[in-house]
Amino acid sequence: MAQLWGGRFQEETDELVYRFNASISFDQKLLREDIEGSIAHAVMLAKQNILTIEEKDDIVRGLTGIREDAEKGTLAITEEYEDIHSFVEANLIKRIGDTGKKLHTGRSRNDQVALDMKLYTRRQIIETERLLRELLSQLVSMMEEHLDTYMPGFTHLQKAQPVTLAHHLGAYFEMFRRDLLRMKDIYRRMNYCPLGSGALAGTTYPLDRDYTARLLGFEGPTLNSMDSVSDRDYLIEFLSAASTIMMHLSRFCEEIIIWNSNEYQFVEIDDKFSTGSSIMPQKKNPDIAELIRGKTGRVYGALLSLLVTMKGLPLAYNKDMQEDKEQTFDAMDTVKGCLRLFCGMLRSMRFRKDVMARSAVNGFTNATDAADYLVGKKVPFRDAHAIIGRLVLYCIEKNTSIDALSLEELQAVSPAFEADIYDAVSLKTCVEKRLTIGAPGQKAMKQALALYREFLKKERESEREIPEE
Ligand code: ARG
Repeated sequence: MAQLWGGRFQEETDELVYRFNASISFDQKLLREDIEGSIAHAVMLAKQNILTIEEKDDIVRGLTGIREDAEKGTLAITEEYEDIHSFVEANLIKRIGDTGKKLHTGRSRNDQVALDMKLYTRRQIIETERLLRELLSQLVSMMEEHLDTYMPGFTHLQKAQPVTLAHHLGAYFEMFRRDLLRMKDIYRRMNYCPLGSGALAGTTYPLDRDYTARLLGFEGPTLNSMDSVSDRDYLIEFLSAASTIMMHLSRFCEEIIIWNSNEYQFVEIDDKFSTGSSIMPQKKNPDIAELIRGKTGRVYGALLSLLVTMKGLPLAYNKDMQEDKEQTFDAMDTVKGCLRLFCGMLRSMRFRKDVMARSAVNGFTNATDAADYLVGKKVPFRDAHAIIGRLVLYCIEKNTSIDALSLEELQAVSPAFEADIYDAVSLKTCVEKRLTIGAPGQKAMKQALALYREFLKKERESEREIPEE
């Protein structure tokens, strides 16, 4: 057992207590951030004449060496240390001797872990933003390709009105764009540095918190030391935004699973992204889409878990907060993994345009347009609705569609029908006449696409660099 706080104690910690209390098995993920923060702290201490230049140089060299050796695999992170902070400090002292003992001047593990977690989360946000941008670009190029790929649009999972694949994909573009904007928003709100808050009440050393904040790429220092060490809002916000991303992925996956089913056959998922059955030779299962849908649950779980952990905690730091890590790390990896896989699955998926169009025609998705046609012929809408309703019933009995009926059959239901009905209810007309902003008609879609392309261009130009260490 290697602890930083043995002085006040007369007895060794109970073995079980030690293990229960330790976090090194999971907070070793924070090695890079811990060292990054410690270097900034040491540089600032030297600037403030709390360390000499030589001491600072020794510390920085020692810390850099630890990081390099750990990354090379020549320095193992072992469970004999309580947490990553103790591991780094103990190793520093082993490497450079007593000077290493000065690093923790004016600092507590409470502001240290708050900083590490923020640095880690910031990187996760940047990576998640990047993956979202990739998905958005992928969606835009698919939309450009499928402006006239007609398909049924659904409400209640019943065919409703015809749309295009581009329009359907555009709905997901909007969702993932909001996800991206949420990530950026969270970054902006959280990007303040807690280092220098000490255990809870700041410190009597003349620390320059503006300076460390700047060194670490933050907007500035946080303004209340008690909040700084006990704020986990940004993790809750991240997990909430991550849950929303997963919800969107899960909905999309559910549709792909339906579209890929024998009954629909709108799409074919590539062999690379499907799996077989050990017993049924004919099967090609959409496991990846199902797994992404399934993993949504654990990300929601992480959000709920942290919300409950934080509920009712008095100020300031409490050990409960150590529970902010495992499930959050898992959620961060899950979201990134799912975004990556989803993008690949989407890119390699084949769309069966003929099946989609046929499905739209066969599902009376032009019934609204047929009613609107009658309105154009001076039939009041409510009457038109009833006439088309009767016509649909007639078609169901005859197993046919409105546009396949003869003019005589149509006129038997309403004399208002004329020869131009066929063009009015063709799939193409039904879609292309929908030209309000946000509608599926090509002209409207192209306007939306131009804005989407513009959005992505600006996004690419303003892409965040991961801050230098
Ligand atoms: N392992 C702790 C955590 O993750 C680090 C902070 C410990 N501070 C303390 N006073 N025990 O929250």
